[in-house]
Amino acid sequence: MPLRWGGEKARIAVIAGDGIGKEVTPEAVKVLRAVTAPAKRPLEFVEFDWGADRYLKDGVSLPAGAVEMLRDEFDAILFGALGDPRVPSNQHAADILLGLRFKLDLYVNARPVELLDERLTPLRNRTEKDIRMVVFRENTEGLYVGVGGFFKKGTADEIAVQEDVNSRKGVERIIRYSYDYAREHGLKRVCMSDKSNAMTFAHDLWQRVFKEVRQEYPKIESRHLYIDTLAMEMVRDPAQFDVIVTCNLFGDIVSDLGAQLAGGLGLAPSANIHPGRTSLFEPVHGSAPNIAGKGIANPFGAVLASAMMLDFLGWKQEAQVLREAVRAALRENFVTPELGGVKQTVEVGDWLAKFAGKVR
Ligand code: NAD
Ligand code: IPM
Ligand code: MN
Repeated sequence: MPLRWGGEKARIAVIAGDGIGKEVTPEAVKVLRAVTAPAKRPLEFVEFDWGADRYLKDGVSLPAGAVEMLRDEFDAILFGALGDPRVPSNQHAADILLGLRFKLDLYVNARPVELLDERLTPLRNRTEKDIRMVVFRENTEGLYVGVGGFFKKGTADEIAVQEDVNSRKGVERIIRYSYDYAREHGLKRVCMSDKSNAMTFAHDLWQRVFKEVRQEYPKIESRHLYIDTLAMEMVRDPAQFDVIVTCNLFGDIVSDLGAQLAGGLGLAPSANIHPGRTSLFEPVHGSAPNIAGKGIANPFGAVLASAMMLDFLGWKQEAQVLREAVRAALRENFVTPELGGVKQTVEVGDWLAKFAGKVR
């Protein structure tokens, strides 16, 4: 993407958010500074305090004008996680995270599933080459749009309705993006997954669009699986998948499943993209209240999301260095407790930053 701030400089908005988002995001920033410094590619970071603390203090979740500011003044957004037990409605997360996905029209949620070290998978006899795929999750529609309501709320006759919104344009652009990605990356297989056997309107649209678009990519092997079967097949034989494309909710679920195949949520990155526009990069995991404040959250997911951000900015070499740094830390067992290690979040961040600075 052409940077809008004069050649080599990129402006990054940092939203660390809640819980372990506040612990892993500073480590990602540290590693990003280390990897870009020697090449004299300045990244300018501007931090925003949006999250539960701010919401509880003054009621502001996503401030007025925030979307326009991010769109016009930043190249990318580095995001931690949102979610706090003190906000049971999760309203601030809906406003900020879903708000940015929708209002910046970040229609591609790319969630790579890549086994970086074969010791990490819970599956038997699987190696790095078996678990390497990317899930493309539609990111602006579906059951996430917040259309619905209650009828007779709080009574025994209560009804709750949540609408599943699927547009022709929305379905087509995510399917097309998945094929283009496969073609550009030399990947041979695209699997579209839906639940058209039960969701006979919304996913009938997915079926029809898929049948149309797949014809434009005759060199790519196209396949359809119902989402329940996909979940089963990802566990039975993950090697059969290169690219998976699915709707918003199913993509959320299978990306956590995929994350665990590759070692767990602590390592999984994601990119929320609209090609050519300000896009948002975040680990797949949430704010993990069960470990927040203990200093033991794994920063790999945030660092690998940062690598996806560098790719997006066109800084491919630096992105590769970050991935190599994570692989090296895994080889050395320099890892946080959930991966069987004894290291703290900050220690791992320091190690990765040192590696990244040295290699460059
Ligand atoms: P979670 O991803 O926060 O945690 C699930 C499990 O994985 C927990 O046991 C946690 O300790 C572990 N885990 C997650 N990330 C880890 C890391 N980096 N290192 C080590 N262990 C890690 O999911 P949850 O518990 O279902 O949700 C907690 C809150 O986060 C909720 O409010 C939820 O809505 C929110 N959430 C936010 C996002 C986001 O901001 N993108 C994503 C998922 C969940
Ligand atoms: C994710 C999260 C979010 C989602 C939540 C926090 C709304 O689970 O990014 O995967 O469902 O998209
Ligand atoms: Mn999720």
